[in-house]
Amino acid sequence: MTNTTQHTEHTQKVYKPAPEYRNDARIKDYDLSYLNFQKDPEDFWRRIASDLLWFRPWDKVKDWEYPHARWFVNAKCNITYNCLERHLKNNRRNKVALFWRGEDGTEKIYTYDRLYKAVMQFANALQDLGVEKGDVVCIYMPTVPEQVIAMLACARIGAVHTVVFAGYGASSLNQRIVGSEAKVVITADASMRRGKSIPLKPIVEEALIHAPSVERVVVLRIQDPPTCLLDDFEVDFYQIMKKAEKNCPAEVMDAEDTLFILYTSGTTGAPKGIVHTCGGYMVGAYYTTKYVLNVKDDDVYWCTADPGWITGHTYAIYGPLLLGSTIFMTEHTPDYPDVGIWWQLIESYGINVFYTAPTAIRMFMRYGEDWPNEYDLSSLRILASVGEPLNPEAFEWFYKVIGKQRCPIIDTWWQTETGSHMITTLAGEEMKPGYAGKPIPGIMADVIDKDGNPVPPHQAGYLAITAPWPSMMRHVHNDEERYKSYWNTGKQPYYSTNDLAIKDEDGYIMILGRSDDLIIVSGHNIGTAEVESALISHHAVAEAAAIGKPDAVKGNLLKVFVILIEGKIVNEKLIHDLKYHVRQTLGPIAVPSEIEFVDSLPKTRSGKIMRRVLKAQEMGIDPGDISTLDE
Ligand code: PRX
Repeated sequence: MTNTTQHTEHTQKVYKPAPEYRNDARIKDYDLSYLNFQKDPEDFWRRIASDLLWFRPWDKVKDWEYPHARWFVNAKCNITYNCLERHLKNNRRNKVALFWRGEDGTEKIYTYDRLYKAVMQFANALQDLGVEKGDVVCIYMPTVPEQVIAMLACARIGAVHTVVFAGYGASSLNQRIVGSEAKVVITADASMRRGKSIPLKPIVEEALIHAPSVERVVVLRIQDPPTCLLDDFEVDFYQIMKKAEKNCPAEVMDAEDTLFILYTSGTTGAPKGIVHTCGGYMVGAYYTTKYVLNVKDDDVYWCTADPGWITGHTYAIYGPLLLGSTIFMTEHTPDYPDVGIWWQLIESYGINVFYTAPTAIRMFMRYGEDWPNEYDLSSLRILASVGEPLNPEAFEWFYKVIGKQRCPIIDTWWQTETGSHMITTLAGEEMKPGYAGKPIPGIMADVIDKDGNPVPPHQAGYLAITAPWPSMMRHVHNDEERYKSYWNTGKQPYYSTNDLAIKDEDGYIMILGRSDDLIIVSGHNIGTAEVESALISHHAVAEAAAIGKPDAVKGNLLKVFVILIEGKIVNEKLIHDLKYHVRQTLGPIAVPSEIEFVDSLPKTRSGKIMRRVLKAQEMGIDPGDISTLDE
C-alpha cells in the first residue's frame, strides 16, 4: 500500500492502495465492473450464480412484482451441497473447513470431509426427532462447532433455522420461539464467557413455559458432570447423533424456499422475523465473500461475529463455506484473559482476512498499541469492518496499528434484511476514512430526499436501495404489513434502509446513523420500544423512554428516562432492580448504562414520546422542529 494521502476540497483523506493490492483484488476496475452490471443486471447475476451447483437451472433470473421479488425462478438447490459436496468434488476433502478455539485452549478441527459427515449424521438425528422440510428449528447455542453443524443440518433437510444469540434473555428467546413456531430447540447446558460457565438451559426452560409449538429440546452437554435431562422431552446432542444413520442426501429445495428466519429488533412492538431464501441468499453470500472480502483459497479467515447475528450467518459461516475457505472461530471475547488474546490468535492461526466491528477496534484503541505490537500480525492481508460507522480515528488505528499501512480496510455497509454486503470499499479501491464506500456491482443505491429524488453531494438524505437484489429478505415472518413498510412507492419503488447518509462527488457514501428509533449499541440493534416495554413491565415504573447517547467505544450508550409510579422511591436498590429486570427480560446487551428519573417526558400532542428532544437535551444541542411538542 502506498501511503500517499491526498486531501479533497472537503479535507477528506484518501488512501490509495498499492498496485499489488489492485492486482490482488477480484474486482480490479470498479467502474468497468459496475458498467457491466448496469448493462445487463440479470446476466450479471446469472454469471455469478453459475459458479454454484444447482439441481435444476432457473427458468428466469428475476421475477419482480413490487414489493416481492423471486430470484432464480424454479431453480432447485441446497446450500449445504455447495458448502460441502462441491468442495469434496474439488479436491478439498482434507482441507480444514473449521478451526475452533475454546476459552480454555481446547482446539477442534474439522476438515471438509469431517464437517460433511457430522452435518449429515446430525441432519438424520433431527429427522429421527420428527423434523421435516419446512419445520422451524430454533438454535440457542454458544459459539461452538456444534452450532455450525446444527445450522447446516437444518439446511440439509430443508428445515428452517432461527438462530437466537445466546446473550438474549428468556423473554426475548420466548418471543422468537413463539413467533417462528419452532418445533425443536437446540441448545447447550452452558456457555463459557470470560472464564465463567454461564448456564443456558435454565433460560431455555423459562422461555419454553408458554411455547406450545416446541416438541423436543436437544442439549449439547458441556458441563461436567453432565446436566440431567428430562426424559423424552430433552435429548442429548451426541447421543441422538450416534444413533442416527450416516448418509443424508441434500434435500432438493426450491430457490425461493425459506433457508432461515433471523429476528431483528423493530422500532415498535415485537422483533421482526426476517426471512431469507435458499437460492438468492446463497448467491449473495457467495458473491460478496469472494469479491468484497476477497478471500483466497489458501487464506485462514476470521469473522469475529457471533452466528446469532446476520454477520455470523453470512460471513462467519455460509459465505466462507461456499467458497471452500478455512474458517477460524472462537468463544474468546476480545478482552479475556487480556486484550492481547485476539492478536495472539491471529499470530498463532496465521489469519489472513480479519473481519470485525468498530466497537471492538475502539475498545482496543483504549488499551494502546503495545498489546497488538507484541504479536506478529504479518499474515493479515485484508481487514474489514461492519455494524456501525467506522469513524476516521478508528479507521486510522486499524489501518496503521493492525494493518501496518499495508492491508486494505473494507468497511461493509449492509443489514439483516439485505442478507449480504451492499455498500463497501473494495480491496483495490481508494479508501476514504469515515466513508463506507460505493454500492458494489450488482447493487443500485442512492441518497435521496423525502420525494425520492437524489440529493446533491454532501447533503444528508435517506439511503435507499433502488432495485431488488438476490439476497434481499423475502418477507417479514407472518407480517406482510411490516414487510411492505420497507418499500416506498412512488415513481420508482425503492427499499428504505432507514439509515441517513451523505454521498460525495465520487459516489462514496458516508453513513450518518439511523433515521428511526433503533439504537446501535456496540454494533447491536436495540429497539427503543423493547427496552421501554421491558422497563414498564417492572412494578415500580409508570413510563419510560430510551435514547442512544454517543459513546467513544460503544458508538452509543443506552440511556433511559423513567417516571416512577406514585409513592415509589429512588434508591440504589431500585436502580439495580431495574437493570436486573431488563437483563432478565431482554438479556445483557439491552441493560441501560444510565437511568434518569424524571417527572414528565416530552410528548407530541398525540402522546408520542419525542425521543429526539430528550437526546438533544442530553447532548446540549438544538432539538430542531418542536412544533408538535405538547406544552
Ligand atoms: O445503521 C446501519 C448499521 O447497522 C444497521 C443494520 O443492523 P443489522 O441489521 O443488525 O446488521 C448489522 C450487520 C450488517 C444499518 O442499518 N450498519 C451496518 N453496517 C454499517 C452500519 N453503519 C455504518 N457503517 C457500516 N459499515
